[in-house]
Parts: sequence; C-alpha cells; structure tokens
Amino acid sequence: MTEAAMEPMYRHRVTRIWNELRHQQKDGADTPLAIADLLPLDQYHYLGVAPVEEAARHLKIGAGDRILDIGAGVGGTARYLADKFGCRVTGIELLEHLCTAAGELTRRTGLSDRVAIFQGDILEVEALPIAGQQFDGWVALMVFLHIPQRQQLLRHCHALLKAGGRFYIEDYYLRRQPTETERHALAATVACPYLPSREEYESHLESAGFSALEFVDVTPQWTDWVQQRATQFHAERDRHLAVHGAALVESYDHFYRTVADLFASGAVGGVRLAGQKL
Ligand SMILES: C[S@@+](CC[C@H](N)C(=O)[O-])C[C@H]1O[C@@H](n2cnc3c(N)ncnc32)[C@H](O)[C@@H]1O
Repeated sequence: MTEAAMEPMYRHRVTRIWNELRHQQKDGADTPLAIADLLPLDQYHYLGVAPVEEAARHLKIGAGDRILDIGAGVGGTARYLADKFGCRVTGIELLEHLCTAAGELTRRTGLSDRVAIFQGDILEVEALPIAGQQFDGWVALMVFLHIPQRQQLLRHCHALLKAGGRFYIEDYYLRRQPTETERHALAATVACPYLPSREEYESHLESAGFSALEFVDVTPQWTDWVQQRATQFHAERDRHLAVHGAALVESYDHFYRTVADLFASGAVGGVRLAGQKL
C-alpha cells in the first residue's frame, strides 16, 4: 500500500512512544535508553520478543551476520537482534516518521554502529541503499499483510538473500472468505487489502524459489493475545487518556477491538513461516 494509505493506522505510534517516555521522564534528547526500556513500546508484532527470538533461532543468527529487517517499524526487532546476537541489521521502513523515530531510538540505545534503518518501499528496492546486496537472512514481522503485490515482493526478497540464507515471517493469513464487513475492516482499519490462504501463501513462496518451508499456525495464541490487548487497553482507558489524550486513545481502542474481532470471528489467522533459499 502507499504511504498515504498506511498513514491512518500508524498516525499515533510514534507519539505514543514519546508520550510514554515523557511520562517516565526519559524524554531528554540525549537521555540514554536501555533495550528493556523500549520493549513495551517498540515491538509492533504479537507476543513481545518471542517472535524475534524465534526468528534468531530459525536464521541461526551469529555475531557479524548481516540481517535485513523488512518493514522495520521503529526498529525494535533490529535493535533487539543486534544487541542480543551481535549481528548487523539493516531495516527498510516505508513511513518516514517511523524511520526517523527508529534512528533516534537507535542512537539513544548506542546501537547506531550495528543498526541502520532506511526509509523506502521494499517494492522499489532498486531505489534503496540495499539495491544489489545479499543478506545472510531476512525477517518480516507483521509486514506482508500490508503488501498485496506478493509476486513482486517475494521476487525482491529472494534476490536479497544469499544462497543458503534463511528467512522468517510472521503474518496474517485467510482462514475463510471474509464477509463484506470483515473485508472492509481489514482494508480500512488494518491497511490489509489482500490475504492469501495457507495453500496460496506456501505456493507463492515456492514459486519465488524458496524451499524447506515450515508453516506454524499460531491462530489460537494470537486470538487470545489480541483479545487480551484490546481488553487491557480499554480497562486502562483513564490512564491512557491522561498520558496520551482522546484522539490517540480512540484510535487505538478502535484498532485493537477491530483486530480482536477479526481473529475471534475465524476469518483471519496467524502464521509463523520459515524457509530457505537453496
Ligand atoms: C505492524 S508493523 C511491524 C513493524 C516491525 N516489523 C515490528 O514487528 O515491530 C508493519 C510495518 O511495515 C511497514 N511497511 C508496510 N509496507 C511496507 C513496504 N512496502 N516497504 C517497507 N515497509 C513497509 C509499515 O510502515 C509498518 O511500519
């Protein structure tokens, strides 16, 4: 999707981080930040750092490896991997304000020598500083749901990986045909205009040249987790109103509730997908 189409979903993300840091009196431009300070704020996927640990395990990440983080958000995955495993991580992030925040947070955690997040569209890889490069592995956590052009996307992802390199994806997939209301909620609130079924997802990856695919259905865990997230955010509404104001709280309440309903209805599922370029 275009930057403009993605903007409503991500409008308040960076504001939420700065508001929380201000609330904790850690908002000074040069106040150092620990990775642990940011974990509740900078992981834009489900179940905390579990997916990042899982990615490291599948990619067998070691010190000095070069990892690509596709759709890096504010750099939470990239910083965690670089800090814990000593690898170098290059991120590509479509939205400029997330990318700027990623740079600022990375500088304040002292990881700028190993983490670099560039602004751009992974579909236009020729225009990015990673054009022509090949990485030891790539991760894409909760990103491909925003990108309907799967053939083009996976062709680039294949070219960006060394022979023998591994990838790790966490994403939505379609479990049954959505109703018109569900289709609208996905497109308008989650910026997700297209989802493949499990069979289509695997076939897209195989057609792009990937093999050794492992498809793990995590729908039950994610259904519980997104429900709990929506319930907890709503229960702490007064606290969030005081810290963030009404516009942000209304937006998050609506977003979290929409996602929880999409999983509860059985239309959308969650997948952890790993594989290799032989
Ligand atoms: C749900 S967030 C996940 C961020 C990060 N992977 C994480 O787990 O914390 C999805 C991110 O993908 C980015 N994105 C979507 N389409 C993209 C594209 N075509 N190229 C690069 N980034 C993209 C969005 O801007 C957003 O920051």
